[in-house]
Amino acid sequence: MFTDAQLAQYEEQGAVTIDSPFTTEQLDRAEAAWDRLKKNGDEPYEDPDYIEVIQHPYFEEVAKKLLRAQAVHLWWGLAPHERASAKPPYANSRDQWASGCHVDIQATLEDFEATPRRMRAELWFWLNDVPTHRGAMRILPGSHRSIMEHWSRVLQPEHKAQLPRVHGLRPAPVPENAAAFPEYIPDMGVPPWTEREPIPVVARRGQILVLCSAGLHSAWQNEDTVPRKAMGTSWVATGVPCGLPKNQRDAVMAFLPKLRSKLRSERAHIVPDNFDWLFESNYQPKWAETFLPS
Ligand SMILES: [Fe+2]
Repeated sequence: MFTDAQLAQYEEQGAVTIDSPFTTEQLDRAEAAWDRLKKNGDEPYEDPDYIEVIQHPYFEEVAKKLLRAQAVHLWWGLAPHERASAKPPYANSRDQWASGCHVDIQATLEDFEATPRRMRAELWFWLNDVPTHRGAMRILPGSHRSIMEHWSRVLQPEHKAQLPRVHGLRPAPVPENAAAFPEYIPDMGVPPWTEREPIPVVARRGQILVLCSAGLHSAWQNEDTVPRKAMGTSWVATGVPCGLPKNQRDAVMAFLPKLRSKLRSERAHIVPDNFDWLFESNYQPKWAETFLPS
């Protein structure tokens, strides 16, 4: 169901929405699990219906094709994700994009084009419809390639060797109290990143957004009366080392073994049994190439 044309769209635009094989009954169960977890705040791995979603073979198959890998495993098993209804007045689109646009992953174009791909496969599974006004995520198609090309150009070899890593960055101006300061994503051409026109990632219930968050994207205010409901996982090719900030790395190392203990034995391989692949990568020490004078 994840076609070659969709893979090509991911490579060119940094995002593609694909169908999934889940039935209405399965989606109802998954959405009910999402509702329960949100209501009682339990750990996601305690809910068998959530486990059924995360261990469904389809996500693993999509990740393998996306990452051009024989074997993949979870990088992160996201908790149920909510984009709650916002109260008016709503900020205008320009301001939402200018203040919210960012990247989460730092990697070079060589990382992205390698086999297996040295990138995180981020799969957002939508449990209800995502029309534009229900806080549909905004993305800037193609920005992932320009930005990864920039990292290919400017980063020192010893820093390239420490990619891919989760490293949230945004275009200038970066607030002085932000963890990334003074790092930023320089403008490339006109108009500046913050003045470009992003597109909403709309979807039907049961579809999956395949995202490369090395490109610019932004959360968006939900102007609907119901929340946007998602479950997400992210995956990496087996044997590809990845960096995470200390707090996120600690959380993954606490979460994944608990998740693994709940999986059916024939699905346990989707959670790695060690963390040799997961190195610590923080905002300190700074890499000077990430805040060159523009
Ligand atoms: Fe993000």
